[in-house]
Amino acid sequence: MSSRKHLIAGNWKMNETYSEGVVLAQELANALSSQKPEADVVVCPPFVDLKGVQGVVEFDNAPFALGAQNVYWEPSGAFTGEISCDMLKSVGTTYCIIGHSERRDYFHETDADINKKCKALLAAGIIPILCCGEAEDVRDAKQHVEFVVAQIKAALEGVSIKDANELVIAYEPIWAIGTGKTATPEDAEEVCAAIRETLATCLGADIAEGVRVLYGGSAKPGNIAGFLEKENVDGALVGGASLVASDFAEMVNRA
Ligand code: 13P
Repeated sequence: MSSRKHLIAGNWKMNETYSEGVVLAQELANALSSQKPEADVVVCPPFVDLKGVQGVVEFDNAPFALGAQNVYWEPSGAFTGEISCDMLKSVGTTYCIIGHSERRDYFHETDADINKKCKALLAAGIIPILCCGEAEDVRDAKQHVEFVVAQIKAALEGVSIKDANELVIAYEPIWAIGTGKTATPEDAEEVCAAIRETLATCLGADIAEGVRVLYGGSAKPGNIAGFLEKENVDGALVGGASLVASDFAEMVNRA
């Protein structure tokens, strides 16, 4: 187990209307109210739910931070449909997922786009949760480590940070997302350790030692403990199981 404080983040993806999101956030706040979580907790709802979930954080004193699932790098202007860093900050967002494989695959986001998003978020003081991960054919060809290392290097090109807590990485092998097929803790450790070595090259060894690297892909209450025992796995980015408050709270309590 690492000395870094664990972080459990829930990615709601395109689920929960505004009112459903408020209810889910309240259920989670209740489920976590019996004891203060030892891990950091982040909830990433769709954009339109952010304000409502922020209300729950503020008024119910809920023990989780607010994250978005995407951002655009320009500060303002004629970019129909996009959301800026300042807009996210104006509703209390402190984390933002970037580079998720669903955005890379379905919306053709490139490493260069992700690099711009990463720089814009850091400049705005929002913590990027930078996602990486290989498809099944890449793993079958045993190219997964090189593939992920290249993604991280590209996303962090020209990036420097002063504090390790300014950045979070999430390793999410695509073949394990929403499939029920999890990577083994050893699979996750192999890639997360390589990510940390890459961070040392990109950001310096001291910073790399403190950056949290999460695992994501069919993580659930029954399997999270095995991942968290690994030296270079510092938490989880949770999809499906984050939509059930009791499951997500159980994962937080195991962290
Ligand atoms: P699942 O936990 O549903 O596999 O999703 C993982 C994920 O993509 C989180 O970002």
